[in-house]
Amino acid sequence: MSVSDIDLMKAWKQVLTLSKLQAGQTVTVLTSADTHPQTLRCAIAAASDMGALVNRLDLPPVNAEKALSRDSLAYLGTTPLTGNHAAIAALKASDLVLDLMTLLFSPEQHEILSAGTKILLAVEPPEVLCRLVPTEGDRVRVSAASQRIEAAREMHVTSAAGTDLRCALGEFPAIREYGYVDEPGRWDHWPSGFVLTWPNEGQSNGVVVLDRGDILLPMKDYVTEPIRLDIREGYVRAIEGGLQADLLKEYMATFEDPEAYAVSHIGWGLQPRAQWSMLGHYNKETHIGMDARAFEGNFLWSMGPNNEAGGSRTTACHIDIPMRRCSVALDGTPTVIDGVVQDDIGLAYAAARKGLL
Ligand SMILES: [Fe+2]
Repeated sequence: MSVSDIDLMKAWKQVLTLSKLQAGQTVTVLTSADTHPQTLRCAIAAASDMGALVNRLDLPPVNAEKALSRDSLAYLGTTPLTGNHAAIAALKASDLVLDLMTLLFSPEQHEILSAGTKILLAVEPPEVLCRLVPTEGDRVRVSAASQRIEAAREMHVTSAAGTDLRCALGEFPAIREYGYVDEPGRWDHWPSGFVLTWPNEGQSNGVVVLDRGDILLPMKDYVTEPIRLDIREGYVRAIEGGLQADLLKEYMATFEDPEAYAVSHIGWGLQPRAQWSMLGHYNKETHIGMDARAFEGNFLWSMGPNNEAGGSRTTACHIDIPMRRCSVALDGTPTVIDGVVQDDIGLAYAAARKGLL
């Protein structure tokens, strides 16, 4: 069932309070044709009620000519803000941008953040936002995981299905996604709850075997038969399997870009309120799959750009792949074992589900 405006306003106020919104600050809500009307009106109402000066900037939609879907993360780099200097100026002059459109992976987003403006992306359906409204605890947990990544020089990922991947670390920072923006120039995404980094350029090697139930995004499909991806010197060199492997290969080939096959961000999910089974309930076009990216203990890796972390690779193609039941070790120390995060919350979560069908 839908959620009420009151519930969504409460959620917005929690996010805006955690984001340290002050009375008198300027909030610009960035919208386009796909913006959810309830999310928009509740965002404006909540920010206004907290004393902010609230603008709405509505831009005409753009779907890149090669995009095969309307998923806003299916084709990166081109947004309704591209080349729009007046709109960029308005956003840079704001204290906080509520991105109800999707600027992620665009150069314009970097320019706006460099002005000190905070950007919070929020495009999932209202009931998903309410279920996954962030907490201070989310920030603490994700931050602790990011410190472990920052201190490590290698991530080693294994699974019973046959995954054995080693990624050298150290060239790129760890990124914390905990769902709110409490520092100037910070970007985040509500909902989220995961940690990630990028492997050193050209230093990922091994094999990833996607097992039944792993997820392909932006397709929003559960894998039904194994897909094997061979990785050498930072790039996926072979993709083998059945129909889903063929579909993945063919989709990626439409971008005609060798950089699409580079290993992109790597990390793991830390959000017990995000659910692996969520994709089975929603029409693909109503969401972008944040439950899939954030669910507790998933190993989330991807192919595509590294410019979000300060790297030089840009490519329009981006494939996110959340995997279940993987083990992740940093310099030999396990942080996730068979999909169970090795901290108090992760162990309690696994214990609560133990013995269930
Ligand atoms: Fe991604």
